Amino acid sequence: MVVSVSGGHGKKNTFPGYDIKSVGCVSFSIDADGCSLCPESVHFSLINWQILCFFLTLRMCKPYLPVWFRKTVCLINQNGGSMLKKVCLSCAVAALSVTLLAVPAFSKPIVIKFSHVVAENTPKGQMANKFRDLIKERLAGKVEVEVYPNSQLFGDNKVLEAMLLGDVQMAAPALSKFSRYTKKLQLYDLPFLFKDMAAVDRFQQSPAGEKLLNSISKKGLIGLGYLHNGLKQLSASKPIHVPADAKGLKFRIMSSDVLAAQFKAVGATPLKKPFSEVFTLLETKAIDGEENTWSNIYSKKFFEVQPYITESNHGLLDYMVVTSTEFWNSLPADVRGVVKKSLNEAIAFGNKVAAEKSKADKQKIIDSKRSEIIELTPAERAQWVEVMKPVWKQFEGQIGKDLIDAAYGSNQAK
Ligand code: LMR
Repeated sequence: MVVSVSGGHGKKNTFPGYDIKSVGCVSFSIDADGCSLCPESVHFSLINWQILCFFLTLRMCKPYLPVWFRKTVCLINQNGGSMLKKVCLSCAVAALSVTLLAVPAFSKPIVIKFSHVVAENTPKGQMANKFRDLIKERLAGKVEVEVYPNSQLFGDNKVLEAMLLGDVQMAAPALSKFSRYTKKLQLYDLPFLFKDMAAVDRFQQSPAGEKLLNSISKKGLIGLGYLHNGLKQLSASKPIHVPADAKGLKFRIMSSDVLAAQFKAVGATPLKKPFSEVFTLLETKAIDGEENTWSNIYSKKFFEVQPYITESNHGLLDYMVVTSTEFWNSLPADVRGVVKKSLNEAIAFGNKVAAEKSKADKQKIIDSKRSEIIELTPAERAQWVEVMKPVWKQFEGQIGKDLIDAAYGSNQAK
């Protein structure tokens, strides 16, 4: 059965209370099982925009309309009396359904799960929380950021796979953890590549540095920006001044072949282990040492189980904030713009926290008197550079000499 209601310009007072001339009209049909609601022909003015929007919404909501609604429409069509009465009753039922069911389904905010492995009082933890707060301020009801710190949701060895599966939308793994996706980012693990964080900034903001953010795009991931933590130090169960002191010791490293080569170069044994296991490995003396930044050594209490920390500044621990191409492209353009702007601001905030924490957390460790800080003399430092520098050549083929030269060149301020 097809119910069809129509009117047209010049057909007056089909709907009581409305002058059709000024209202215009709508023609639509409901098929036999009440499953199809199609505007067939529409001529409008004024209020008919609302009527049209209503029916279009209804049509879009069809999958959400319950069986009881469709049955009620059928009943009305069969027994509802006059055509006008049928239409009014159908509209009332439809309005109720849409209000009860379809509207909540459409107004659900987009959820961005942000997973990371560090504590909240770290540059990355603070950046993620800042991002969550900015989004709450700017996109309330549209987008919601949920932050999962301390490997609560995923460790860094799983998070990128999970992202490609849509189980998490954002993360900021250390640059050392992307080698399964690109060999280019191994650049950042080369020992003694950057003399300070200003040089890191200069390189990351250069065309070569920015291009590296796209180095994982073929794998379905987008680099949205770099985030600093800082330069790494060596913590150990015995005092380490020169490379020979590290010989034979077991060091936990991130999942990077460059870092493995770096420790092998000094005769130590590198072990790739998740961040979440480091404290226990150190506490139980399953390993002798590890390399990390002041904020990680402090916030994860490594200094409580490592009596010596050598201030070596031998390598970089920075992050890339990533998302999946699929998720990123699924965001409405205006929302994506606000998300990106908020993320940039959160990263700038995180970088400030990183600079402050590299000093403040070092001082807290000194004040705790749990760990002795060893400073290197220039001659001792030169020994480390000499022993570790051949690692650059070893990975030049995978990374690219041009890239290494460009990064090293950023040590010179222009
Ligand atoms: C590590 O595994 O040591 C770091 O990547 C942790 C982090 O995210 O800072």
